[in-house]
Amino acid sequence: MSTPQTFVIAGASLAGAKAAETLRAEGFEGRVVLVGEEPVRPYERPPLSKAYLRGEVGFAAAAVHAEGFYESSDIELLTSTTVRHLDPVGMSVTLDPGGDLAYDGLLLSTGATPRTLSVPGADLAGIHYLRSLSSCDALRAALGEARRLVVVGGGWIGSEVAASARQMGTEVALVETASVPLERVLGTEVGAMFRDLHSDHGVELHLGVGVEGFRGQGSAEEVVLADGTAVAGDLFVVGVGVTPRTELVRDVGVKLDNGIVVDEYLSTEVPGIWAAGDVANAFHPLLGVHIRLEHWSAALNQGPAAAQNMLGHRVAYQKVPYFFSDQYDLGMEYSGFATHWDDVVYRGSKEDREVIVFWLDQGRVVAGMNVNVWDVAGDIAALVEAKKPVDPERLADVSVELSAL
Ligand code: APR
Repeated sequence: MSTPQTFVIAGASLAGAKAAETLRAEGFEGRVVLVGEEPVRPYERPPLSKAYLRGEVGFAAAAVHAEGFYESSDIELLTSTTVRHLDPVGMSVTLDPGGDLAYDGLLLSTGATPRTLSVPGADLAGIHYLRSLSSCDALRAALGEARRLVVVGGGWIGSEVAASARQMGTEVALVETASVPLERVLGTEVGAMFRDLHSDHGVELHLGVGVEGFRGQGSAEEVVLADGTAVAGDLFVVGVGVTPRTELVRDVGVKLDNGIVVDEYLSTEVPGIWAAGDVANAFHPLLGVHIRLEHWSAALNQGPAAAQNMLGHRVAYQKVPYFFSDQYDLGMEYSGFATHWDDVVYRGSKEDREVIVFWLDQGRVVAGMNVNVWDVAGDIAALVEAKKPVDPERLADVSVELSAL
């Protein structure tokens, strides 16, 4: 096999930028072309619903790398450029603008896009989605003017935007089809902690009810719920989940199923093509299933792992899934992956929101979340990794060191 000469990375966000960095750090001397449709250098998204949205920090705090990094690392960062077409047989991509570019290795880190609501009135002005820096800038400007925000969706985006808006002094109502916020990941019992958190901070909650449509003259003035309630506002944010961006690889032989299907080496079945980050549905050796992790940490760590594999080092990606959230004065980290559990164990005070929550399945910890308790995420990940039965009473007992379990 000849030495690869050009690596193309489609998608210049966290996964793509970290992959490019790793290729250079590992001594790759060929071309590294990092292609992104946005006009700015790669940035991380967590601040866009938190400090950046509130205007407390600027772009530099969100950027993956300092200004000048790509030039000094000889990484060709092509901003405002879209990868339009992929020819997996000829091993080339078509850039717009830019034309054809042959690759020896291609990393797909195209991310995800917000799912839109298709209800009457959904295209009225004043209804925002949050994903990109530009969508965040638009929301940030609108929040500065708004008196009352209505958030549709009580997932991570909806919950964090609601908290940020309250912190900025805006009135907030939140609509969620599930019975509690964050139910998809945390379940009903633990999601209730977040319901109480938001209501304690003055958020008007409409739970267990879907959205029928939006009404307004020109711009949205109210959202109408399935039970007939009309929730009025002068600004609306919809956060009802994301869809992986796979349009580039439709009909090119790359297997698609809830994103781009890759193995534990982040490799597709098509020679020379890998995928990482929000778009990748990767086999996870620890969990024994394919999962698509829409997490900051997956982008951060899968990018480098994919780069290693592109260089021919066999590096299986098997980190314990991890994410974090900040809402008001509550900070939390979640480690693990729980779709099914038969027990929930609390260590600390749920009422004071200073607690570690464990989800157990057949006596084994499948996930843990530390809330306003710090420096324990490593211990929690170790418990998930160990897959060993634990004694729930000792797990709940703060006098027993986590590392002793
Ligand atoms: N009306 C109200 N709520 C709805 C509706 C609807 N029509 N449809 C879906 N929802 C709710 C879901 O029940 C869920 O609680 O929207 C929420 C979506 O939550 P997530 O799946 O967490 O998606 P989102 O909050 O948009 O975040 C997208 O960005 O921050 C990352 O990792 C995060 O994967 C997440 C992604």
